[in-house]
Amino acid sequence: MDARELKSMAAAAALAYVEDGMRLGIGTGSTAEAFVHLLAEKVADGLRIEGVPTSERTARLCVELGVPLRSLDELPELDLVIDGADEVDPDLNLIKGGGGALLREKIVAAAAARMLVIVDESKLVDTLGAFPLPIEVNPFGLVATRHSVEQKAAHLGLTGDLVLRQSNSETFTTDGGHYILDASFGRIPDAEALSNALNAIPGVVEHGLFIHMASMAIAAGPTGARMLRANI
Ligand code: A5P
Repeated sequence: MDARELKSMAAAAALAYVEDGMRLGIGTGSTAEAFVHLLAEKVADGLRIEGVPTSERTARLCVELGVPLRSLDELPELDLVIDGADEVDPDLNLIKGGGGALLREKIVAAAAARMLVIVDESKLVDTLGAFPLPIEVNPFGLVATRHSVEQKAAHLGLTGDLVLRQSNSETFTTDGGHYILDASFGRIPDAEALSNALNAIPGVVEHGLFIHMASMAIAAGPTGARMLRANI
């Protein structure tokens, strides 16, 4: 089975957690998109949900497939958010933001009673950090913010390249109009300390460490999909 099939398997297993009448956060990325396709079939069959998308990209797909959408301002409290991830550790702490939607993903996850993560099992890691950590920054003061990130990281014993994300030979811009620095720190032994340190930098809008946010994860592998639960 290739990664695409495993992502579809995880997405299909997640459907079992969607109940009629739910206010549902809908994630971003290829796994979340597989979920949207399956969800749209259920909606066409009569399932009633109200979806809040985590990106313009997801919103466009939902509209195209007929999944009903509301804004987070209309539905500020959600029952469940279903989203992908770039890495998942044994406590279900995550790195997210490979698709650049981490800010809205985190705002939506914080508004949801539960977060269900859907991944192929290659995303499961013992320690976060092999995947470059996306750090969303305000374009104003980019150089100063970058220095602050390097300094805070160094205090925690972390070093590595900070690469300003590009797309089609231009600086990548998020849905919120910000830039992303992808930080190749390697292994991050204390992700919570790094999260707190990054949050203290004014030019950092958000970062891709999701600490104690996911309550469940579905990881799909060649032998099937398994449910992982966090103690939060
Ligand atoms: C989007 O910004 C990300 O957080 C995605 O959820 C993450 O990159 C996983 O993407 P895939 O499902 O495409 O692997």
